[in-house]
Amino acid sequence: MITKELKIGVNIDHVATLRQQRFTEYPDPLTAALLLQQYGVDSITVHLREDRRHIQDHDVLGLKRFLEAPINFEMAATDEMLRIACSVLPAYCCLVPEKREELTTEGGLNLTVDPESLTKIVKELKNNAIRTSLFIDPYFIQVKKARDIGAEAIEINTGRYAEAKTLKDRLLLANQIELAAKLANELGMSVHAGHGLNYQNVMQIAKISCIEELNIGHSIIARSVFDGLGSAYVEMKEVCLQARTND
Ligand code: PXP
Repeated sequence: MITKELKIGVNIDHVATLRQQRFTEYPDPLTAALLLQQYGVDSITVHLREDRRHIQDHDVLGLKRFLEAPINFEMAATDEMLRIACSVLPAYCCLVPEKREELTTEGGLNLTVDPESLTKIVKELKNNAIRTSLFIDPYFIQVKKARDIGAEAIEINTGRYAEAKTLKDRLLLANQIELAAKLANELGMSVHAGHGLNYQNVMQIAKISCIEELNIGHSIIARSVFDGLGSAYVEMKEVCLQARTND
């Protein structure tokens, strides 16, 4: 039985990554999102990157058109992305730092650098009834800045926690995340968390009661490869054998 007290959003960028590797039409992120919706997914996250390496503009438009679950639109704080967000109108925009050379988002935003432009973006999104979360590392200074900037939520970067090499480090980082989450709650913001969470490390974070939502991508999509691999093989074999019996 899935409890609704902790929401789990799924990042489907990795489905698009597989498609873009060969520029095929499959696997289609929208189909993935609709399947997850059948299983009660709490939200779907897509990151439309400046270089369009995985999710494409038409994916975002398709989700907006056909998906009922809330869309969490991850974006860099740029004019182009702001324009797209204001035309698509997702439930949430999660502002993230973006570097072309990175494989995936590497760390949280530093909100002490140019908070004025972020404040303008958050205001513009709010004017369009879009709630904003700011992806930050679990530091009090960043949490307080997020409140000053006017964000409705923060998403705490769990990447360093996920990469911790020892149990001691992992527990220290989980504690740091919990303290940052509590402060954000006290300052009136919702708390989301994500990055690098998998079936082995998620429990320590999932039990932090003031976290409202976890956004998880890579581990879920990776796991689904094995969950579906047997039936994918059997179906291919059936198609091939059918071709012979039809002759
Ligand atoms: N949250 C943010 C802001 C991210 O950038 C990502 C990765 O795209 C995730 C959550 C999900 O991370 P993962 O794919 O490692 O679960």
